[in-house]
Amino acid sequence: MSHNTAPTPLTASKGSPLTGTIRVPGDKSISHRSMMFGALAVGRTTVKGLLESEDVLATADAMRAVGATIERHADGSYTVDGVGLGSLLEPEGVIDFGNAGTGVRLTMGIFGSHNIAATFVGDASLSKRPMGRVLDPLREMGTNVIARDGDRLPASIRGAETALPITYRVPMPSAQVKSAVLLAGLNAPGETTVIEPIPTRDHTEKMLKGFGAEISVTLNENGERVIKLTGQPELKPQDIDVPGDPSSAGFPLVAALIIPGSDITIENVLLNEHRTGLITTLIEMGGDIEIVNRRETGGEEVGDLRVKASQLKGITVPADRAPSMIDEYPVLAIAAAFASGDTFMPGLDELRVKESDRLAAVARGLEANGIACVETEDTLTVTGGAASIGGGTVTTHLDHRIAMAFLVLGMASDTGVTVDDGAVIATSFPTFTSLFETLGAKFSETASEAA
Ligand code: S3P
Repeated sequence: MSHNTAPTPLTASKGSPLTGTIRVPGDKSISHRSMMFGALAVGRTTVKGLLESEDVLATADAMRAVGATIERHADGSYTVDGVGLGSLLEPEGVIDFGNAGTGVRLTMGIFGSHNIAATFVGDASLSKRPMGRVLDPLREMGTNVIARDGDRLPASIRGAETALPITYRVPMPSAQVKSAVLLAGLNAPGETTVIEPIPTRDHTEKMLKGFGAEISVTLNENGERVIKLTGQPELKPQDIDVPGDPSSAGFPLVAALIIPGSDITIENVLLNEHRTGLITTLIEMGGDIEIVNRRETGGEEVGDLRVKASQLKGITVPADRAPSMIDEYPVLAIAAAFASGDTFMPGLDELRVKESDRLAAVARGLEANGIACVETEDTLTVTGGAASIGGGTVTTHLDHRIAMAFLVLGMASDTGVTVDDGAVIATSFPTFTSLFETLGAKFSETASEAA
């Protein structure tokens, strides 16, 4: 599943205003979890609107490797016939997660409390990312681990025969770490407690409850979320309708705001409160974004976003908003390049350990295209209103969101922007270019064809 195709440079250049109505693909976080929790249930889970991206398909393969039957049907829906919690089979080969941090970290949690051995590998990006943040609590629960120095992939684990339920305070704002501990706790007898000082996306908690787990969330005297999970439930299959991914919606959202004359609607976007930081921030910057048709599906709020081109102004983005828009900073930096004045983004230390060092990758990409910015260890300041924007080539470092953010820059630029590898987009948003083309965007496949 590793991303093996040769790098394909891709250029976006100035086109007409963006107009029309689109739907972005299903939410990546919910898609991964649908495959995992479906595999842990007894019976048939159905999934509509699954994100069919390389990351999610790697997770589906990992669940097949431990005995789940996962099929795609003619209408694009999926069924997952679960193998059942506690009954996972030992996988025969290595588990290749490609680029997928969520996939590997959550799966390590699941396997970590099952008495099976498994070896995980990933692409060059995933092999650089820290796994100790999930392997450390798993070791406390009894998982045996052999990993490369610094707890990087490849890593082999043998799950505990009987895992120890623990109380774990998550040391960094990370839904992946929280989820890995909870998922290991699923097959541990007794109560696993996760204390989350800074709230992060809560899809694991919500979906596990839907699958029939006994899980409670309260606030302690310090205002921290305390999540308690009773181990060894029988998980019941669910019918899941995956809403549109707000992180993917961020790209057309920003593009429509910064390309003069644009007016688009993005339908069926997930509006979970832990995911809407970008929308809040862009509205504070003066973005004309109307949320219409708010409704609930499968316990999650969704709505349609009507977005019109707007003159944005620079602001300070509160640091405590970072977890609710952690994947959206690259594209927010592009919006900031078209705002008047400076946009200051503090609290970005977690960006250093994403699919790439996103703080550095964004800063270098902005500089390559004539946009002034200042990068510190955990902040970024972008100065808007450069005289001429574009003309540069951006190194994507196998990072889908760096590629997409800078293609959005190219669409609004004076002289076009090239990313060194457009193929990485398949990680999370395989229909990115075709969807944008329906709105009026223009792409060309090699740098030499750039406008
Ligand atoms: C995710 C959590 C976030 C996010 C990632 C998806 C999840 O990662 O960046 O794209 O589905 O739990 P962290 O937990 O590392 O912040």
